[in-house]
Amino acid sequence: MQDQENEILAPAEALVYPPDYIVNEAYINREIYAKMYRDSIENPEGFWHGIAEKELHWFEKWKDTFEWNYPDYKWFVGGKINITYNCLDRHIIAGHFHKCAYIYTNEASTEQRITYGELFDKVCRFSNGLLSLGINPGDRVGIYMPLCIEQIVAILGCARIGAVHSVIYAGFSAKALKLRLDDAKARVLVASTYTKRRGKMVDLKAIADEATEGLECMEHIIIHQREEPMLLDELEIDFDQFIATQSPVCEAIPFDSEHPLFILYTSGTTGKPKGVVHATAGYNLFTHYTTKIVFDLKTDDIFWCTADTGWITGHSYIVYGPLSNGATTLIYEGAPDFPDPASWWAVIEKYRVTKFYTAPTAVRLFMKYGDEWPAKYDLSSLKIIGSVGEPINPEAWHWYDKNIGRNNCAVVDTWWQTETGGHMIVTLPSLPQKPGRAGLPFLGIEAIVVNRQGTPVPPHTVGMLIIKKPWPSAFRTCFGEPERFQKYWNEIEGVYFAGDLATMDEDGYIMILGRSDDVLNVSGHRIGTAEVESALVSHPSVAEAAVIGKPHDIKGQSIKAFVILKQGIEKTEDLKKHINHQVKHELGAIGVPDEIEFVDKLPKTRSGKIMRRVLKAKEMGTEAGDTSTLED
Ligand code: WTA
Repeated sequence: MQDQENEILAPAEALVYPPDYIVNEAYINREIYAKMYRDSIENPEGFWHGIAEKELHWFEKWKDTFEWNYPDYKWFVGGKINITYNCLDRHIIAGHFHKCAYIYTNEASTEQRITYGELFDKVCRFSNGLLSLGINPGDRVGIYMPLCIEQIVAILGCARIGAVHSVIYAGFSAKALKLRLDDAKARVLVASTYTKRRGKMVDLKAIADEATEGLECMEHIIIHQREEPMLLDELEIDFDQFIATQSPVCEAIPFDSEHPLFILYTSGTTGKPKGVVHATAGYNLFTHYTTKIVFDLKTDDIFWCTADTGWITGHSYIVYGPLSNGATTLIYEGAPDFPDPASWWAVIEKYRVTKFYTAPTAVRLFMKYGDEWPAKYDLSSLKIIGSVGEPINPEAWHWYDKNIGRNNCAVVDTWWQTETGGHMIVTLPSLPQKPGRAGLPFLGIEAIVVNRQGTPVPPHTVGMLIIKKPWPSAFRTCFGEPERFQKYWNEIEGVYFAGDLATMDEDGYIMILGRSDDVLNVSGHRIGTAEVESALVSHPSVAEAAVIGKPHDIKGQSIKAFVILKQGIEKTEDLKKHINHQVKHELGAIGVPDEIEFVDKLPKTRSGKIMRRVLKAKEMGTEAGDTSTLED
């Protein structure tokens, strides 16, 4: 990707206008957007002050809206807030006790519903349970569960009493789980016994057992038993019992605006994942407001974000954003194309989903299955259909617009990151879209494309995507590693360095091209090349390994590994399988290479750094660019 810098790309295609009804319904239409954006950039503090007063409940009002001791920043300084009050209590006080908060369904079409009142009850009990274990504000709680209502209860149960949750995606291996729990020094783990994917049971309990074996920080394990209760050992507590024995009354404790809400581990350029820390008030406000404005959320909407709560998209747009707005959200546990390639479309028809949010990799998968699958279902309830996680190519954009949106929806691409907490670049649904371009910065966000010196590049020229100033939901630190946080604001002095390459056109629409660093994006999952490489070399036969991302029709990128074996080891297909198995064990299925090639040498700089760019060029049959630092 680095070679693309300064390249000039052809302009993208023409504008696509949303249907009139979208424009008429929108909170923010074309006329007011331009002025609102201008005002929000001229005076971001004033802008966010006004939104915070209007949209959230505060126990105590803040003194200063924004404080910036570069590189550290604070929002709503001195304010007191409880995010679960905004997500639950206030809706109940407003009379929405019986409103449905979540509809859960899965591959087997099982259905569960929970109202705001019922959710509130469970969350309070869970919070009381944590208090009974002696959990204090700031203590970390790990969560290793699939997408289900109990997971959301656990998340909110932590937040209500100020315990910092750290959700670990239930596709990570025991080793990866242990690494994260240990890094966070989690005192409690909440784990489910299993999940089902493609009808197959995944034994999460066994993984949790392995991960917590000998883990010194771990004091209690709460087991969410999905069917038959099993015999639990002394550290383990049954989830249902845990809440059944508690009082349903747990007052929301007012916390400082900056109180840490959660840690979410994400991949960087080194082998060790970073623990991205978000603070309560700014995150609450930003996810609330983007959910409302980007999805133009109204009280009768049925919102479905297909992400998993193990990733930031789930945190922001399954849990906190929708709940803070009092919405009804659908959650679906399982694979998108099981039992058949129309499972999701059947769900949209059945539940009359109005706002739908998914990833380009899913769109491309459905494209491959063919138009006939969605065509069988009535998708006329849909109004806004969103995209997130990777660039959506114009072909997929148009397919999505036509076959899912039936040319009667707004298609909205959203660019953002674990670190940004919420949407940064998104062309609001009432505005004209440019397929293939994530588009315009959100209100209050100044995103531009610059060269390495920080100077804006001309239109259509490839450069670095940066954001000029901290925004309310900008992450506050990397847990235990402030220097990794500072790097984001030092790479180009004084601005947020996103790590993505982009171009901007004459109208200010931004196109994201992909990462500028050694981070892969496989099916919308962020994976560090270094993480996969260290998993590869943990195999006893492997001496050295280098990993690159290759363009892939459906996944966006696939993983190719170049492996040097230890002396005397035979290069066999069987060994490749063993190595893959090892990666699965070390990291989880998401990190397993699609392809392994045994090589005798890797291209390196004279200082010994692997030149992945040279490997990639060789793989793709393109020019390798500047190779003057190549050792051999
Ligand atoms: C990529 C996911 C293009 C990007 C929310 C970013 C995108 C990384 C888009 C963050 C998009 C996310 N268009 N690329 N709409 N959305 N990305 O932290 O490279 O899992 O840096 O957050 O995904 O991935 P993360």
